[in-house]
Amino acid sequence: MTAAVELLNVSKIFRSQSQTTHALNDVTLKVEAGEVCCFVGPSGSGKSTCLRTINGLETITRGSVKIFGESYSGQSSAHLLRRKTAMIFQRFELFPHLNALENVALVPHLRCGLNRTDATAKARQLLARVGLKEHCEKYPRMLSGGQQQRVAIARALAVEPQILLCDEPTSALDPELVEEVLQLLRSIAETGMTMIIVTHEMRFAKQVSKNCFFFDAGKLIESGPTPTLLSQPDHPRLKEFLSSLDKH
Ligand SMILES: Nc1ncnc2c1ncn2[C@@H]1O[C@H](COP(=O)(O)OP(=O)(O)OP(=O)(O)O)[C@@H](O)[C@H]1O
Ligand SMILES: [Mg+2]
Repeated sequence: MTAAVELLNVSKIFRSQSQTTHALNDVTLKVEAGEVCCFVGPSGSGKSTCLRTINGLETITRGSVKIFGESYSGQSSAHLLRRKTAMIFQRFELFPHLNALENVALVPHLRCGLNRTDATAKARQLLARVGLKEHCEKYPRMLSGGQQQRVAIARALAVEPQILLCDEPTSALDPELVEEVLQLLRSIAETGMTMIIVTHEMRFAKQVSKNCFFFDAGKLIESGPTPTLLSQPDHPRLKEFLSSLDKH
C-alpha cells in the first residue's frame, strides 16, 4: 500500500547572513494512510519545520517528500499538495475580521470553487460538527481559545484533507480548555483520518497515536509504537526529554 507520507533523507537548511541552521538533518520517515502519529521533541528540534515541509509550506534543501506516492519540488506542485493536507496551528491563525462561519467558508469558496451559498452551508455543518452551532456569527475575539481552535479545526476539515497536520494544537490553551480540543481530535482520529500531531501531551499521544517520532536538533532520533517508545525509551536524549516533561 502507498504510504500517506514518505520523507526520504530530507534536510532543510535555513541560511541567513550570520547563521546556518540545520532545521532538518537527513530525516527519513513513513506514515501509513489512516494512521495517527505524533512528533515529539524539545523546542527547536525541527517538528514544525517537518510538518510545514509535509504541508508544502517549506521547500527542502535535500531529499524527497511524497504524499500518497506523489513527489513534489518547487511551488506549483506544492499548491496541489496543500489540497491533500491541511494544518492547524498553535495560535489558531484565524482571520480576525471574519466571523467563524466566514473563516470556515473562505477556503472552500476561494480555493475549491464552491459558490458562496454552498460554502456557507458546508461551513455551518462543520461548525456544528465541532460543537459550535450556536457560535457561527461570532468573531474570533468573542470566542474562547478552545472555541477558536475548534473553528480552526473546522476550517482545516473544510478542504476535505486526506492528511491533517496539527502543530501543538493545545499548547496555547488554558488548561481547562485543552480537553475539549483533544476530545475533538480523538473523534477525528476515529474517522480514519491520517493525522500527524506535534504535542507535548504525552498522555494524549499514548491514547491517540499508533507511532511516535522523536526529534532532536533536526534529527529523527528514535521512532516506534507510541506506548513502547514513551514507556521504554532507548535513546538517552529521549529519556532525558521525557524526564524533563515529568518535572513540569
Ligand atoms: N524561517 C526560519 N528561518 C530561520 N531559521 C528557522 C526558521 N524556521 C525555523 N528555524 C530554525 O529551525 C530550527 C527548528 O525549528 P522548528 O520551529 O521546526 O522547531 P520545533 O521543534 O517546532 O520547536 P518548538 O517546540 O519550539 O515549536 C530552530 O533552530 C529554528 O530557529
Ligand atoms: Mg514548533
